[in-house]
Amino acid sequence: MTVPGPTRAGWADSVRLLVIGVLPAFAQGFVLRRPLALRVTAALDTHAWGCRVLDDLRERHGPGPVLVTVFGRTGLVLLSAEDARRVLAETGTSFTSANREKTAALSHFEPDAVLITPGPLKAGRRRFNEAALDGCTADPGFREACRAAVEEEIRPLLAGDTLTWGRFHAAHQRIVRRIVFGDAARDDERITELRDMLRSDGNWAMLHRKRHRLRAELFARTQRYLDLPEPGGLARGVCATPATAETRPVAQMQHWFFAFDAAPISDYLTLGLLACRPEPSARARADRAYLRACVLDAQRLWPTTMVILRDSTTETHWPGGWTVPAGTAVIFCNPFFQRDARRLPYADRFEPEVWLDGRAEADWSIAPFSRGPARCPGKEVVLSTSATLLTGLLARDWRLTSPHRLGPGRPLPRTADHTSLRFAAGDHAVHG
Ligand code: HEM
Repeated sequence: MTVPGPTRAGWADSVRLLVIGVLPAFAQGFVLRRPLALRVTAALDTHAWGCRVLDDLRERHGPGPVLVTVFGRTGLVLLSAEDARRVLAETGTSFTSANREKTAALSHFEPDAVLITPGPLKAGRRRFNEAALDGCTADPGFREACRAAVEEEIRPLLAGDTLTWGRFHAAHQRIVRRIVFGDAARDDERITELRDMLRSDGNWAMLHRKRHRLRAELFARTQRYLDLPEPGGLARGVCATPATAETRPVAQMQHWFFAFDAAPISDYLTLGLLACRPEPSARARADRAYLRACVLDAQRLWPTTMVILRDSTTETHWPGGWTVPAGTAVIFCNPFFQRDARRLPYADRFEPEVWLDGRAEADWSIAPFSRGPARCPGKEVVLSTSATLLTGLLARDWRLTSPHRLGPGRPLPRTADHTSLRFAAGDHAVHG
């Protein structure tokens, strides 16, 4: 199908997009979620409002992208799966992942990370990321250390009869420190505190000053784990992977450390979905591939990366003879594409099967881990950690005790507040 070329949004549509689409997401925090704003936006289901604005634009203008100018910055909002695929596939040629706003947000704590590296330096850093991460996931010693870290850290959770986000997240932070920096970092709460202070600055992107001293402390603490006589976790993979002066391994690791903090959100929501569904829950206990599909579907339903941003690096050409100048932002809005009821019959329900029968893989507009040359190289580490963690937690029979609408029968809300989900264990432990 040929998608028509771009149209330009009028001022009324630009204001609607800004106020209804962008502001609630900005309030939630693109880099570090703000719990209070999350609670309010989930109560109002603001992602549903944003999706309606995009739906309405597509209805009136057709599926071609819409050019929007706000505060002097022009962005191309994608509305069709075909255009989404093109932009993701052409990352590295016509588009860069080092979009201006994303760079401003992430450079507070991870300058030089591959995701915000423009130009020719990116290829070398990408190769380093892939080699270090793939090397670790292929190493049975690393996999065993991850399994041990997860099982040890969730033991106290299994011993209690209630589960809250606070306890779950604290255990997950220990897991992530052990996986990224090695067991020696288990109790290094300062490194997490530094990361999160700088992430909270990142929520303001260019509007917040850089705190160089905090960043230097974060980097120095990271380096200490690389300098150990026997580094553990992904740090060992970093030491074993050839790097040049331009690779900046410590900066690459900051992205891993930051990005891993999205996993507990989707894991906890997956637990919420399964707690309301006895049959899928029984299947997830026995079938690891299905459990991974459950995590992926929770990511589809509530993507932790709310937008994938690109900047065009050359003049780009679109149907209808349109050209769009280099330096234009391109906006791929995950909640819109992954819940697109016009294209996906399963848009608003939990449907892990789509990850097993090839439907989700074939559709590039479903991209919780992105697609194309800048797709997430950490996907395997994340999914295997999530599967181990959820297999462990499902040894108990959890019941949802908070009033979230996660059950079957009604469309799932588009905005979820994971922080207020609470569970109680059923009266028997499933695996003893
Ligand atoms: C639930 C957890 C995660 C999700 C949902 C996720 C998702 C994503 C997405 C959507 C992108 C593309 C972003 C963009 O283009 O703007 C990305 C990039 C990336 N992710 Fe992940 N990620 C996760 C965890 C991780 C972890 C744990 C690691 C490393 C251990 C990792 C490493 C990376 C790297 C290095 C990139 C940049 C790739 C490039 O620019 O070439 N991610 N991830």
